[in-house]
Amino acid sequence: MTGQPLSDAELLALADAAAERAYAPYSRFHVGCAVLARDGRVIEGVNVENASYPLGVCAEEAALARAIAEGYRPGDFAVAAITASPCGGCRQWFAEMGVERVVFRNGGRVVEMTVDEILPEQFEL
Ligand code: THU
Repeated sequence: MTGQPLSDAELLALADAAAERAYAPYSRFHVGCAVLARDGRVIEGVNVENASYPLGVCAEEAALARAIAEGYRPGDFAVAAITASPCGGCRQWFAEMGVERVVFRNGGRVVEMTVDEILPEQFEL
């Protein structure tokens, strides 16, 4: 992609638009995630639920798994924008994928943090 890199606000707007495509018939809680790769591309994900509840996947996990399937690798991701505060498991996904920063809505606020800030003292093998 050429031109100006996306701002955090623009990336969050893409996450908002993606959230409308969530498949969340059980919780009715729609989540969208837009990940900005270092090459300028944006990969989006939504939460996808299942009648067997634990099988559902979070929007962040869906976006990052999709990016990996498209050929991206850990370290290729600059920013992830999410429509809600990421759960603990998704914070671990960000750490695994070397996402540099996360931007998300929490109540009425927009929060911006590094992954080291949202998941300190990370587990490593
Ligand atoms: N959810 C996400 O997609 N991401 C998170 O970080 C938190 C929770 C989804 C899972 C489930 O489909 C719904 O939100 C309610 O928990």
